[in-house]
Amino acid sequence: MKEWTREARYRKVEDATVEELEMLKETVQNSQYRQTYHIQPSTGLLNDPNGLIYFNGEYHISHQWFPLGAVHGLKYWDQYKSTDLVHYSHDTTILKPDTQHDSHGVYSGSAFEFEGSLYYMYTGNHRTDTWERKSAQVVAKVNEAGQVEKLLPPAIPEPPVGYTQHFRDPKVFMRDGKLYALIGAQRINETGCAVLYEADRPEGPWSFKGEIKTSLTDFGYMWECPDYFQLNGKDILVFSPQGIEADGDRYNNIYQSGYIMGELNFETLEMTHGEFKELDNGFDFYAPQTFTDEANRRVMIGWMGLPDTDYPTDSEGWAHCLTVPRTLMIEDGKLKQKPHMHLRKLRGHRETALGYANKFLKQMHPYEGERYELIVEILDNDASAMEFHLRSNKNESIVIRYETNSQTIILDRTESGQLPTPVESMTRCAQLDTPLRQLRIFVDTSSIEVFCNEGERVLTSRIFPKSKANKIKVATDSGQVYLKMTKYDIEEGQQDE
Ligand code: FRU
Repeated sequence: MKEWTREARYRKVEDATVEELEMLKETVQNSQYRQTYHIQPSTGLLNDPNGLIYFNGEYHISHQWFPLGAVHGLKYWDQYKSTDLVHYSHDTTILKPDTQHDSHGVYSGSAFEFEGSLYYMYTGNHRTDTWERKSAQVVAKVNEAGQVEKLLPPAIPEPPVGYTQHFRDPKVFMRDGKLYALIGAQRINETGCAVLYEADRPEGPWSFKGEIKTSLTDFGYMWECPDYFQLNGKDILVFSPQGIEADGDRYNNIYQSGYIMGELNFETLEMTHGEFKELDNGFDFYAPQTFTDEANRRVMIGWMGLPDTDYPTDSEGWAHCLTVPRTLMIEDGKLKQKPHMHLRKLRGHRETALGYANKFLKQMHPYEGERYELIVEILDNDASAMEFHLRSNKNESIVIRYETNSQTIILDRTESGQLPTPVESMTRCAQLDTPLRQLRIFVDTSSIEVFCNEGERVLTSRIFPKSKANKIKVATDSGQVYLKMTKYDIEEGQQDE
């Protein structure tokens, strides 16, 4: 495995030779794990989705990017565009580390529209000679010629008093004619929180309004990637806290992503809210960001990966992808996440079958596939537990297990092929609010996204099957289950690189 010195990690892609980049591209293209309908880096490492916006009839989707290898190095924003949210084409590397303020990375941020123009606010990450971190929030404007101009000096040059340099990931939104920037922060006592700034115009001045006052006063050491929006009159604060201990089936990943829902008073910044809930119960989900689509639906895209974890594709010069877009809505007072309706546009050949599954693990019609959307409807269930084995052959499977009495859904990665490391345990579980009726599962070459009961829970994971494991099998522990299965193939080459 390549040793990554600090120098190599902070090398600019502009300083790489054409031959070096070509070789890297070729290694990446030979990877057996390349995705087909998820945004993934052409080379190097992708992390957080950034600058998501529907602007002038197009979706702009950028992501954190270190182009030169599968490590967290010098970050750029690489951008894709789409007219339908599901077919993307690579646009350009929209933000580059080319100023003193972002000399060590153009970190995460958001996009917003103001008086018909497109703007970004992102975190400029700078390291001093003694490797001290300096965080500034920079506004950039897309000018009439379509070029991005950074508006310097930074809009928010340093953290407010009482907070450390872990101060990043501004999410800008408009409310009652004012601009707000919500920023992830760390108090000097090393606990995480989110703070709010306001301005009348993107150029500023930006003034510090204060900290969002939640009841989570000691909840991890840093809150990354905060987001705020209203849905059905409820205020929702999304963030990715670091430093939360595992608690039974909760918080099993290295870092978490979740939300609190309630009422936020913009005068006092007090938020009354329910408990913190994880947005995803799978192995690989972090740093999500939301935006509104062409019909004003609230859509979320996450990073299908986690920091501080090695992935099987690292040695192939690339890592990670984004999730499919999910629509957020509130039903019966609960936040639901559903596959975005435009994902239907990916549907190809369809197969449907009705059948009983019992305790003998058997291949079920539809029999196989490597990339597909699978809808499982549970029409009658007197099984104690049922299992769906996907991407399966003799030795490998990713297993989705449902235990009827406890209404628990379990994703078991034990035999799914190569595994990321280090990762605590081989299973992830979630308790459903109602008995399992439906699963909608998106499988790509190296990922699985399982939506349960019309968005009650989602479990997202990378999987790295070693071979062409592609069978679809079903079994119960005892008793039987009557199922309807519908599979839509998703054609290869949906992503235009
Ligand atoms: C989250 C994060 C952000 C930061 C970015 C750097 O994954 O750590 O807080 O802006 O990634 O790539």
